[in-house]
Amino acid sequence: MEKTIIRDSLNRPLRDLRISVIDRCNFRCQYCMPSDQFGPDFEFLPRSALLTYEEIERLAKIFIHLGVKKIRLTGGEPLLRKDLPVLIEKLSKLEGLSDLGLTTNGVLLPKQAEKLKLAGLKRVNVSLDSLNDDLFGKINGRGVGTGPVLEGIEAAKQAGLGVKVNMVVKKGLNDSEVVPMAAFCKEKGLELRYIEYMDVGSTNGWKMDDVVTKKQIFEMLKDHFELEPVDPAYFGEVAKHYRYKGTNVKVGFITSVSESFCSSCTRSRLSANGQLFTCLFNGNGHDIRNFMRNGASDEEVSQRIVNIWNNRADRYSDERTDEMNKNRKKIEMSYIGG
Ligand code: GTP
Ligand code: 5AD
Ligand code: SF4
Ligand code: SF4
Repeated sequence: MEKTIIRDSLNRPLRDLRISVIDRCNFRCQYCMPSDQFGPDFEFLPRSALLTYEEIERLAKIFIHLGVKKIRLTGGEPLLRKDLPVLIEKLSKLEGLSDLGLTTNGVLLPKQAEKLKLAGLKRVNVSLDSLNDDLFGKINGRGVGTGPVLEGIEAAKQAGLGVKVNMVVKKGLNDSEVVPMAAFCKEKGLELRYIEYMDVGSTNGWKMDDVVTKKQIFEMLKDHFELEPVDPAYFGEVAKHYRYKGTNVKVGFITSVSESFCSSCTRSRLSANGQLFTCLFNGNGHDIRNFMRNGASDEEVSQRIVNIWNNRADRYSDERTDEMNKNRKKIEMSYIGG
């Protein structure tokens, strides 16, 4: 198959593929899977609905032929998927990929980090929203303290994986942790990214008032640290970066609400059951799984992806406050994996 670059209707190339490998999670973060909505009766996908590793490998090859350079595995919590290193090994052997990462809550990393690294994983982004055990337990909805996540981060570092820390900041909840988290990560040499709380899905009760913007976070940091801007590493990089002066440690901001970055969005997302989403805020995905299971050839699957991408016009974060988006149906973040 010829390698091609495909562009959407706003001229954005397809570069990144984020693959959710499972929709379950061992946390119930209140900004993502609030426990009153994702209770014991919540029906997650049955195993037969999930893409198999063979199906994921086949799709990854097709996406790479269409220009994808970077693959990130997500969940729910991806480390809950059985034998994940088997998938990582398959993906790490594919020619043409420059990056293979995983987004995780970190709790299972002490057990799995070494195997993941051996299988060919390059790096992990670990979510940690507070250093205070009580607050963190409240945010993750499971009363889990910071210990297991910190051990997970340490295990990933020891195994030789790259590590970044993601912190979603919500007003009145964990904004008091902005400065302590920066001090901690700077000291440990970890890149911390502050993420503006987003209106993903329809279960987290998002209000604009709950958002702490990059500008506000920057104000909190500037009395404690001297920061200098760093140029983007590549077109479409999501986080805006700074460096603590006199060090090599970076800190980033993901400004999806206050300074949207749709014009350079090169990301596609495959849900755990094989639906293709071209934006984090889509209501429905495009079926790929059944099309494959009904016998479509690689050429046919590829053509379907090309058609979907060519017709893409998503720019939700640019249009968030438009009247037409008021009652828009949106897929849950835990389902397409952030
Ligand atoms: P790096 O490759 O390390 O830069 O990772 P990343 O920032 O692409 O991945 P990660 O999973 O750590 O993403 C962090 C968070 O940024 C996600 O969980 C989302 O909250 C947000 N984010 C990532 N991509 C997008 C996007 O396309 N649109 C919006 N609105 N938010 C995004
Ligand atoms: N707003 C912003 N980011 C979110 N995440 C989940 N829910 C939200 C939200 N409402 C992101 C976090 C976490 C990843 C798994 O999903 O970045 O690290
Ligand atoms: Fe699980 Fe991540 Fe969602 Fe938290 S943010 S509930 S760890 S998927
Ligand atoms: Fe991309 Fe949609 Fe996020 Fe905009 S809102 S950056 S189009 S995923």
